Amino acid sequence: MESNSSSNLTQNLKLSNKENDEADIISFRLLDLSDVDDFMEWFGDDNVSKFCSWDTFKSKEDAMSYVADVAIPHPWFRAICLNDKPVGTLSVSPFHGTDKCRGELGYVLASKYWGKGIATRAVKMAASAIFVEWPHLERLEAVVDVDNPGSQRVLEKAGFKKEGVLRKYYLLKGKPKDIVMFSLLSTDQQVTYFM
Ligand SMILES: CC(C)(COP(=O)(O)OP(=O)(O)OC[C@H]1O[C@@H](n2cnc3c(N)ncnc32)[C@H](O)[C@@H]1OP(=O)(O)O)[C@@H](O)C(=O)NCCC(=O)NCCS
Repeated sequence: MESNSSSNLTQNLKLSNKENDEADIISFRLLDLSDVDDFMEWFGDDNVSKFCSWDTFKSKEDAMSYVADVAIPHPWFRAICLNDKPVGTLSVSPFHGTDKCRGELGYVLASKYWGKGIATRAVKMAASAIFVEWPHLERLEAVVDVDNPGSQRVLEKAGFKKEGVLRKYYLLKGKPKDIVMFSLLSTDQQVTYFM
């Protein structure tokens, strides 16, 4: 579990905005129930849920329940904020027992913010934070659908190693799918470069 001091760790990164030459700030923060309207922007979008295990949320009540029951109690679930506005989420889910050296990364972004490098920045920020906050963690892994090249590219740009394809690894909307396994180790050099 994260410590109180580490849960307060906040990182900011400036993202150059090519259109108006200003710098956008990307940061993380904890979610709360007042974020539900922003939250629906991505959890209510079929384009976002296409490669996710959850189905598109149909109502604000669904989103309220998810924030209350999943996001808030989760050990590392953050809103990705662009200039303080939540535009997506990123989580690191711990494994337990003899698997506790691993954590699994997941992320989603509202579709109108795609293609600006936001997810890549957020993944780098999370990777540098999590190995400090959870010193027992040796490996951060991400499991990506073979048909989701955008997400694979995010991990490649963030320095994750593509380890291989695992066949029929999960059910996507009931259909068995192959995935690409990516990992970043605490000892990988790029982890310190992100800081
Ligand atoms: C995947 C996702 C997080 C990417 O967010 P993003 O902020 O647009 O990502 P970035 O801008 O940092 O990088 C995206 C990269 O993928 C590339 N890309 C996007 N779609 C692509 C496609 N169909 N084929 C090949 N490359 C693609 C982009 O060109 C970019 O690479 P580049 O910088 O080399 O040009 C976002 O699309 C999303 O939320 N998708 C839905 C949820 C999801 O799939 N989550 C991941 C589950 S594992």
